[in-house]
This record gives sequence, structure tokens and C-alpha cells, in this order.
Amino acid sequence: MGVIGVLTAGGDCPGLNAVIRGVVGRTDEMGDEVIGIVNGWEGLMGDDTMPLDRDKVRGILGRGGTILGTSRMDPYYHGEGLDSCASTLSRNGIDRLIVIGGDGTLRSAMRLAEEGMNVIGVPKTIDNDICGTDMTFGFQTAVQIATEAIDRLATTAEAHNRVIVVEVMGRTKGWIATYAGIAGGADYILIPEYAYDVAHIVDVLRKRHRSGHKYSIVVVAEGVSPPPGYEPAEMKKDAFGFDRLGGVGYAVAAAIEDQTQFETRVSVLGHIQRGGTPVASDRVLATRLGVAAADYAIEGMTNVMAALRGTETVPVPLGEATAAIRGVPEDIYETAQTFFG
Ligand code: F6P
Repeated sequence: MGVIGVLTAGGDCPGLNAVIRGVVGRTDEMGDEVIGIVNGWEGLMGDDTMPLDRDKVRGILGRGGTILGTSRMDPYYHGEGLDSCASTLSRNGIDRLIVIGGDGTLRSAMRLAEEGMNVIGVPKTIDNDICGTDMTFGFQTAVQIATEAIDRLATTAEAHNRVIVVEVMGRTKGWIATYAGIAGGADYILIPEYAYDVAHIVDVLRKRHRSGHKYSIVVVAEGVSPPPGYEPAEMKKDAFGFDRLGGVGYAVAAAIEDQTQFETRVSVLGHIQRGGTPVASDRVLATRLGVAAADYAIEGMTNVMAALRGTETVPVPLGEATAAIRGVPEDIYETAQTFFG
């Protein structure tokens, strides 16, 4: 018997509540106690907690956001690591921690584990870019939302003989752009992993329009570099000093319009990709990872995350998960390229 603390940190992601429900369901079944930490690391540093039990997690499976709240605070960036969390941990009797977060959060989780805390991670991000797991929950929901947007934008683009540039999230990787682009039948997809050439885009779109299809959809991942000579406005910074992405689609659209003379509009999908109910496959994956994380904590494991490998959930060292950021493999991007134009 002991107390497991659970927190969600970083940007939210559809499926977080399903993970929390999975953790609580399994822990309750095994007779341990769970304490939710409010607003991520901020709550752990400031003793903001809430007791969790099966009753508290009823009805949350399909809800977007996180019942625990989240923040961009970090115990190493904004505090002194384990020392900043020690009083909350001891006041609440928390002897194990389940941390649901993206790459930065998992890195801090690993450092806490190295300082002696028992920590289990659960990889979370719509960006699908965490190493050591085949897929992250939230990604399929973001892809579904972006695909539906592309379907809608295609009919208005067709009605007006326009090019529409659809900008999607993903930070430095193009998973959402590639998957939603394939699913939505995009005429061109730009992602950070592979360099692009405006002259080639122009060529592909001109050929398409000459052949009678006088509209096009170009999907742009938010992390691509702007075309030379089309610099977007200076970006604001997030809580860690990284660029707050968003807007490069306007620079790409300007280059396309200037060089094709085709009327070109832009739609930046933004946080709509992260909000609302998770699709069924994300609910299942999130539930499985939550249950697996609880099992690992109960078994006394530490410094691992619950990951998906093939069809199995497995523990993967946090060091492996945080060693790099996972990009879109060439063969998947090549599949998308087959349908450009
Ligand atoms: O990492 C998830 C993500 O949604 C990225 O795709 C996006 O660039 C970023 O978070 C947005 O963060 P914020 O909610 O802080 O604007």
C-alpha cells in the first residue's frame, strides 16, 4: 500500500482524461491510493493536489482537456528539481509519481528519477514525435480534425478556383501534416524533415490547374522554414524560450500566389486540433497506457515510460524516449508525394 501521484504537464492533448481514468481504475483495483496533482509541475512545487478515486473519474473518458489542469512550469527550469517538490511529496505521502507529458516533461521526469524519486512516464502529444513508442495518443484525433478541415476547405477552394494553404501543428516534425495530407488527398505537403523548393510546388500546381483541376490544397506543417524572401513576423517565445510557432502558412501562400498568380488563401487550424473529444483509437491507447503505467508503478519500476510497440504496451527507459525527437520516415512521406498535384 502506498500513494501514487499523477500529473499532466505541458500542452494538453485529447486522451489525457482517459489516461488518468486508466491510472485510477487500475490503482484502485490493486488497493493503492491516487492523488491528482493540479496544474502539472506547478501543483507539485506548490502543494496543489486533489484526491482521486473511481467516482471522481466517472464520465471523463471522452472529455477533452485534463481534469487535473496543466501548465508549462518545470521543476528544473523554474525550480530546484526534486528539492522543489519534496515538501508536496512528503506532506501527501506520495512515494511514486506518474507523469503524463511530452518530451520536455519526460526529460524532467527522468531527472527526478535520477535524483531518487520513483517515476513512471506516459508519452503525450498530438505531434506523435516521441521516441520509443510507435504512436502517441492524441495524434489520431488531431489527424481526424485536420482531415475533416481539409475536406471542407477543398470544396470551397474548388468553388472559387483557389489554392488553400492549410497550416497544421506538429512543432519540428510533420506527422500531422503528412497523415492528414494523405487522408485528405492534399496536392502538396511541406514538412520540416524534408527541404522543399517553391519552384517545384509552383510547377506541380500549374500542371494540376492546366489539367482542369483549378484548385489545390497545400498542407504546411507549422515548423517548416519560410520560403527565402518571405520571412514571417518575429515569433513570440513560450515559457522555455522556444519560438511559439504558427503563421508560416502565410509566407508559403504569398510565395505561391506571387509565382503562380493563382488566388491563394490560408487557414491556420491551431488549437482546434487539440480540443474536444478524443477519437475511439486514442481513447483505447490512452486507457491502455494509463493502466500499464499504474502496473509499472505498483510493480516498483522507475525511470521508464509506458509505450506502445506493435500491439503491446511495454516499459521503455525514459533515456531512450528523450534521446531524440522522432521524425516522419522517408517511405511515409514518399507515399504522400505519389499524389502531389
Ligand atoms: O506540442 C503540442 C503542440 O500542440 C504543438 O503542436 C504546438 O506547436 C504547441 O503545442 C502549441 O503550444 P501552446 O498551446 O503553448 O500554444
